[in-house]
Amino acid sequence: MSQSITFQVQPGGSLRGEIRVPGDKSMSHRSIMLGSLAEGVTHVRGFLNAEDAMSTLEAFRAMGVKIEGPVNGEVTIHGVGKHGLQAPAQPLYLGNSGTSMRLLSGLLAGQSFDSVLTGDKSLESRPMRRVTAPLALMGAEIETQENGTAPLHIKGKGNLKGINYEMPIASAQVKSCLLLAGMYAEGDTVVTEPAPTRDHTERMLTGFGYPVKRDGSTATINNQGQLTATQIDVPSDISSAAFFLVGASIAPDSDVTLKHVGINPTRTGVIDILRLMGADIEVLNQRSVGGEPVADLRVRSSKLKGIDIPEHLVPLAIDEFPVLFVAAACAEGRTVLTGAKELRVKESDRIQVMADGLQILGVDAQPTEDGMVINGGAIGTGRVDSHGDHRIAMSFSIAGLRASGAITIDDCANVNTSFKEFKDLATQLGLKLSVI
Ligand code: S3P
Repeated sequence: MSQSITFQVQPGGSLRGEIRVPGDKSMSHRSIMLGSLAEGVTHVRGFLNAEDAMSTLEAFRAMGVKIEGPVNGEVTIHGVGKHGLQAPAQPLYLGNSGTSMRLLSGLLAGQSFDSVLTGDKSLESRPMRRVTAPLALMGAEIETQENGTAPLHIKGKGNLKGINYEMPIASAQVKSCLLLAGMYAEGDTVVTEPAPTRDHTERMLTGFGYPVKRDGSTATINNQGQLTATQIDVPSDISSAAFFLVGASIAPDSDVTLKHVGINPTRTGVIDILRLMGADIEVLNQRSVGGEPVADLRVRSSKLKGIDIPEHLVPLAIDEFPVLFVAAACAEGRTVLTGAKELRVKESDRIQVMADGLQILGVDAQPTEDGMVINGGAIGTGRVDSHGDHRIAMSFSIAGLRASGAITIDDCANVNTSFKEFKDLATQLGLKLSVI
């Protein structure tokens, strides 16, 4: 496991240049899962070589799938077919990765062998009833801890039944979990979401030739399909690009182009929100790559203003709020976020942890039950704690661009869960970031 790492960012500077940030995390997880269950050999390019996606990759190796790579983002998966996974000899340790645990719980509930899912302290404190409860309705037997957290002990009974499920929260992880379980259930599994969430599972299933019906907010699947190996080209992760969308917006004299970014409409809330705040973001060279829209994003400095963030954009920017709070701190006037209670159960309580850090830096940031109120102004100097949350660590690094003095950020090792190259790429663009 990684040791403790402290970041320090010196104040000021501009961001300038052209970079390609690493591959999309959500798609990388799904490429391993579906590639493993496919008939034939799947080649993946642009795979995210970071701890979370590697947790998924190692889990499938532990279930007997031969996977080569990643080497320069290339992974070769020798699919074993829908019923070809083998019982893992040990509990599957999934580190910090909520996506691995929630998606795998559905997939494993449909197998004919037992399995156990574990994770680090953060993952083992995150809510899992949101997946175990609907899976139980499908007939799955999953033992959690008393408060509904992992370790999860999954009984492989091989007799799931389809359900018609209205999701109480907008969560792509819950939706994906149930669709994966639905591949092993008798009858239709019908999942309806209360608001659009990322649809990479549905798109990738289609790419592998597995029938999944989509009708408005409802997705339907059954156990009659088969996955056929394919080629997957994973674009850059807009959630990683987001740090530079904000950084180049708030730092004077900045001009950054982010190449080959995935702009699936269920992921682009960060662009919409920043544009509403007055950001200058151009979407260039739009194209379609393997069923997913991709573009280059050019962003230049601008004067941001505070806004009331429209609630329908919340699920479409769910991972980008830590850095959007930094944008709000640099904006003129008040920014109000509501309807974002989910942020409290991410890798950390992102409402509390960001409010605490921003307050240490002298920003007027007031946490609320389901969001935050930030009055833009000066960012000061100080020492903040990321609480082991990768996106918090990177967000406070970006805040350095407008700070009056150095910012020291503790507990940053988990940046490696999603974006190992962050420090190198950020410093290449002009951020004065070092590890101390
Ligand atoms: C993800 C879905 C989101 C997101 C997470 C990745 C996915 O979680 O926060 O980082 O790949 O499906 P929720 O669906 O629980 O909101």
